[in-house]
Amino acid sequence: MTEMGDLPPGGPSWIYDTGSDYWTNYENGPRRLTEKERRDSENLKSDIDELKKSGADISVELFGKRSDSVVGIPAGVAANSKWINFYSQAGYDILTLKTVRDSYWEGWPLPNVINVSGDFAGGFSFSKDFTGTITNTFGIGSPDPEKWVEDVKENIIKNLPKGKVFKISVIPHPKHKTREDFVGQFANLSAIVKETGADCVEYDLSCPNLSSSEGDVYADPKLTREIVESARTVVGKYPILIKVGYLDNFGHLTEAVGNIVDGIVAINAMPAVVKDGGGPMFPERGGKAGVCGEALREMGLNAVGQLHSLRQKSGYKYSLTGVGGISGQNDAIRYLDAGADAIEIGTAAMLNPLLALSIKKALMERCEK
Ligand SMILES: Cc1cc2nc3c(=O)[nH]c(=O)nc-3n(C[C@H](O)[C@H](O)[C@H](O)COP(=O)(O)O)c2cc1C
Repeated sequence: MTEMGDLPPGGPSWIYDTGSDYWTNYENGPRRLTEKERRDSENLKSDIDELKKSGADISVELFGKRSDSVVGIPAGVAANSKWINFYSQAGYDILTLKTVRDSYWEGWPLPNVINVSGDFAGGFSFSKDFTGTITNTFGIGSPDPEKWVEDVKENIIKNLPKGKVFKISVIPHPKHKTREDFVGQFANLSAIVKETGADCVEYDLSCPNLSSSEGDVYADPKLTREIVESARTVVGKYPILIKVGYLDNFGHLTEAVGNIVDGIVAINAMPAVVKDGGGPMFPERGGKAGVCGEALREMGLNAVGQLHSLRQKSGYKYSLTGVGGISGQNDAIRYLDAGADAIEIGTAAMLNPLLALSIKKALMERCEK
């Protein structure tokens, strides 16, 4: 069941325009807040200030940088400064730029985001109404690096308020066909990201929308290690995070990279067949689409639980970020209780502009008690 109780009657009002493609949303940025949303958001901000004054502290140290809170936005719809600054203003303190590449890539046309119902065991089908679960099938469009680097330096880093952590998610371009080239691209992209002044680089090793094996790298501990080791020779101790999908057993992955990554973000959307009427949608996209939101929650919690116990058992120092199906304070608390140092909200943050502030307020009230 969704916790997004603050949504307007008549259904959710998307911040991201699901009827337009990635590039239109890139240019237009998020929708404007209504007067009521603006007022409610100011009220929540002053409640949070009061709680802070009375000593409530939900800040967290992640890979050497302090974030004012544990609440963040994952690599999702925030593809440029218009989006990152919007989410920063909306109270998210850990901000991730949507995955970018080393050269322009158009990505998939519409549809990208559709409502679906079902679950990972029984399969998904198109739904007219919002269910809390959606597809995100973008194929990772990316501007040229000249464009995203300039935007990051001029419009994000220069304005980033104190207490915010900013990361950039990267993936190699499909033109990199050989294993060596693919591995080397992570190192090149890491050097570019480091140079922008971002706090860390995040490797998207788990994109569910690529018809090649690039989306399954996290399931290959040897390749993941090769990627991180190769990047280390270029960026030294600069923080490197990996974004993973779900595994029944993360032991092999942590054995390979638990000591050499600074953070693990779990989990990405997972690939699934989505049906409309009789037939599968997206046959030209490998037959599957990334599915995220509420249907992902239990898998995300399981992944975080595993990664936390492995960290405790073996003394790994990686930070652990929980993501998947968080739509309110109870979900956030479940992830934190499962061992996450921080949480990120993708799907629900496309709908409710007050979500980060209301979760932060609830966490601060809880910490006061
Ligand atoms: C619209 C949309 C776009 C996304 N794009 C990316 C991406 O570019 N890179 C990535 O690592 N994850 C991407 N994700 C996955 C999210 O980061 C997150 O892992 C996933 O959606 C689970 O969180 P949620 O259930 O809160 O949405 C995207 C998710 C959404 C909803």
